Amino acid sequence: MFFVLCISVVLGFAAGQLRTEPAKQYYRELGCTELEGETNAYNCSSLAELSETKKCFHNHKSYKVKDVIKGDDIGYPCAYECICQKGYKSKNANWQCVHIECPDLFNPPKPDCIRLYTHEKCCSEKTYCPATDPPMPHTCEYKGVSYVEGQKFVDGCKNCICQKGFNGTLVEPFCKPITCEFYLHYSDYIQDGCVPTYYEPNDCCPVPIWRCPQESDVVITQKNIEDQSGLKCKFGNLELAIGNMLSPSEENKCVECSCQVPPHLTCLMNTTCYSQH
Ligand SMILES: *[C@@H]1O[C@H](CO)[C@@H](O)[C@H](O)[C@H]1NC(C)=O
Ligand SMILES: *[C@@H]1O[C@H](CO)[C@@H](O)[C@H](O)[C@H]1NC(C)=O
Ligand SMILES: *[C@@H]1O[C@H](CO)[C@@H](O)[C@H](O)[C@H]1NC(C)=O
Repeated sequence: MFFVLCISVVLGFAAGQLRTEPAKQYYRELGCTELEGETNAYNCSSLAELSETKKCFHNHKSYKVKDVIKGDDIGYPCAYECICQKGYKSKNANWQCVHIECPDLFNPPKPDCIRLYTHEKCCSEKTYCPATDPPMPHTCEYKGVSYVEGQKFVDGCKNCICQKGFNGTLVEPFCKPITCEFYLHYSDYIQDGCVPTYYEPNDCCPVPIWRCPQESDVVITQKNIEDQSGLKCKFGNLELAIGNMLSPSEENKCVECSCQVPPHLTCLMNTTCYSQH
C-alpha cells in the first residue's frame, strides 16, 4: 500500500505543479485572507474565534445554544431560519437550518418563458415570455449569449443576474460569489480542525466528506518537491511541508489530502478510485 502511494504521489506531482484550486474557494468561504507577499498561502487567524466550541458562529458573531437567526441576519436568501443547537456526533454546537424550497423547483416555467430573479430573494417572483411580453429595456451580453434583465446565469463560482449597467465584468451588484454556507453547515467540523473534500478541483463547494485529524495519521513525505517558502500546513498535531500528503483514512480511502496551499490541507476525491469502490 505504501509503495503504491509513493508512485501515485510522484505521478501526481510530476510536473511539480500544485493544485491551487479548490483552495481559493475554500479560503474565501472561510474568510481567510491571502498571506502578505505570498500568492499561495493564507492567513486564517480569524478562525481563532471558533475556539469556543459551545457556541455557534455566523458573520463573526457568536451565538449561544437555542439562539435563532433569520432573514437578513443570515444573509443567504434561501436559508429561512437557523437555530444554534448542541451537536450530536461532535460535542460542538452547530446550526440547524431550514431552507426555502422554491415552487419553481417543481414547476417549470411555461415553454419559451424565462424566470426572473433578484439577488435578495431566493425564489423567482416573475417570468418573462418574449413572444407575448413587451421587449425588455435592458439586456446583457455574456460569452455570446443574451440575457434579459432579471435572468440568472452562472459562470465559475459566480451567480449573476442581468441588470442595467452590466458590461461583462462579473462583479457586484450583478454577480455574487456562490456561497457554500460553511459556517451554517459545517462549523463543528471547522472547529475540530477538519478539512472538506472537493470532488473536482474547480468545484465551488465541497462534497460533505470531511477529513478530521485521527491518531493514526502520518505524513507521507514527497522527496522531489522543492519548496523554498518554508510554509507549512497544520493538521491535528502534524505539520506538512508543501507537496507532502496525509495518510488516507480508513473510512474514505479515495480522499487524497495534501499540503498545497498552507495553512490547511487540500483534499480531493480521487474519482478513479471512487468509481472502483
Ligand atoms: C494575520 O492577520 C492578523 C489579523 O488580520 C494579523 O494580526 C496577523 O499579523 C496576520 N499574520 C500574519 C502571519 O501575517
Ligand atoms: C465595467 O464595469 C465595472 C464596474 O461595474 C468597472 O469596474 C469596469 O471598469 C467596467 N469595464 C469596462 C470595460 O467598461
Ligand atoms: C487514484 O486512484 C487510482 C485507483 O485506486 C490510482 O491508481 C491512482 O494512482 C490514483 N490517482 C492519484 C492521482 O493518486
